[in-house]
Amino acid sequence: MKVAIVGASGYAGGELVRLLCHHSAAKVTCVTSRKLAGTPLDQVHPHLKGFTDLVFENPDPEKIDADVAFLAVPHTAAMSIAGKLLSRGIKVVDLSADYRLPKETFEKVYGVPHTDYFKAPYGIPELHRKECKNVQFIANPGCFPTGATLAAAPLAKYANTVIFDSKSGVSGAGDNPSATTHYPNVGDNVNPYKWTSHRHLAEMKQELAFLGSKAKVYFTPHLVPVNRGILTTAHILLDEPMETKEVEKLYKDFYKGEFFVRYQMPMLAAVRGSNFCDIKVESEGLRVVAVSAIDNLVKGASGQAIQNMNIMCGYKETDGLVAAGMLP
Ligand SMILES: NC(=O)c1ccc[n+]([C@@H]2O[C@H](COP(=O)([O-])OP(=O)(O)OC[C@H]3O[C@@H](n4cnc5c(N)ncnc54)[C@H](OP(=O)(O)O)[C@@H]3O)[C@@H](O)[C@H]2O)c1
Repeated sequence: MKVAIVGASGYAGGELVRLLCHHSAAKVTCVTSRKLAGTPLDQVHPHLKGFTDLVFENPDPEKIDADVAFLAVPHTAAMSIAGKLLSRGIKVVDLSADYRLPKETFEKVYGVPHTDYFKAPYGIPELHRKECKNVQFIANPGCFPTGATLAAAPLAKYANTVIFDSKSGVSGAGDNPSATTHYPNVGDNVNPYKWTSHRHLAEMKQELAFLGSKAKVYFTPHLVPVNRGILTTAHILLDEPMETKEVEKLYKDFYKGEFFVRYQMPMLAAVRGSNFCDIKVESEGLRVVAVSAIDNLVKGASGQAIQNMNIMCGYKETDGLVAAGMLP
C-alpha cells in the first residue's frame, strides 16, 4: 500500500515515517515539504538515515500518487488538500484540527472560516472504533484531548465537573522556533499557558458529551522541559462518592482488551516513543484523580493516526505500533 505524508519535514510527519518503517504493508512513497522540495528526507530527520531514500516533493494534491495520505500540516492547510485527495479516491487521515469539530464550533474556536467542510469520524479508536471502519477519511484527535479524554472517559457520565491539568513536552509546538519554545525559556522552568482558553478544550467537551457527560469541563496546560510527552491530571468531581477499588474496576473494565491503554502508574518516560497511554486512578470520595501519560507525537499524533489507518484499511490495529517506551 502506497502512503503519502504531506508535511513530512515536521515533527509529526517525521514520526509517521519512523513508525511506518515497521509496518507490514504500508510503504511511504511520497513525502512533501514546500521549503525543502528536492532535499533528501534524512537531511532533516537524520535518525531515519538508512531506512529511507525519500526526497521531499512539493505538495500537489492533484499529482500525489498514493492509496492513503496523512496530512501532517497546520490547521487551515489541511482543508485545502483533503477534499482534493478524497475526490481522487485516496484515503486520508488528517492530523490537523480542521475536521475534529463541527463547522460552526471550528470557526468559533479557530477564528477562521472553514472553506471545505465535511463530517468525519473523530479517531480515538478506543471510543470510536466502529465509526472509523471502512471510511475514506478520519480526523485524528489533538494531543491534549487524547490523553485527557482517555483519563476521564470511564467516569464521564458520573462527573459533574472535570478539571484537566496537563504538562506538555516542547515538540507539541511543532518544529517552528518561537520565543515560548526558546531554550532559556523552557529549560529548568515550567510555564502555564492559555490558562482558560486553549483551543483543545472544545474537543475535550465534545468527547465527554459523546460519552453522556453533562459535566462542566476546564483545562489548563503547562509547558515542561522535556521533548516529548503529555501528563494529564484529571480532577473528576462526582455527585456520589466512589471508593478507589470501585473506580479501578470501572477503568479496567472500560479498557479491557485495549492493547494501547495500560492500567499502571503513568510517567512520561515509560510511554516515550510508544503508542501507549498509561492511566491510574485514586479516589478520595467525591473527587477522583485520574492521571494519564502519552507521547504527544505517537498516541497524541502519528501513532494514533497509523492506528486509525489500520482500522480504516482493515489491517491489524497494532501493525507498525508494537514497541515499548524508553525508560529511563
Ligand atoms: N506536534 C505535536 O505534538 C502534534 C500533536 C498532535 C497533532 N499535531 C498536529 O499535526 C500537524 C503537524 O504538526 P507538527 O508539530 O508536525 O508541525 P510542524 O513541525 O510545524 O510541521 C508542519 C509541516 O507541514 C508543512 N506545511 C506547513 N504549511 C503547509 C501548507 N500550507 N501546505 C502544505 N504543507 C505545509 C511543513 O513543511 P513546509 O512548510 O516546508 O511545506 C511541515 O512539514 C498540525 O496540524 C498539528 O496541530 C501535532
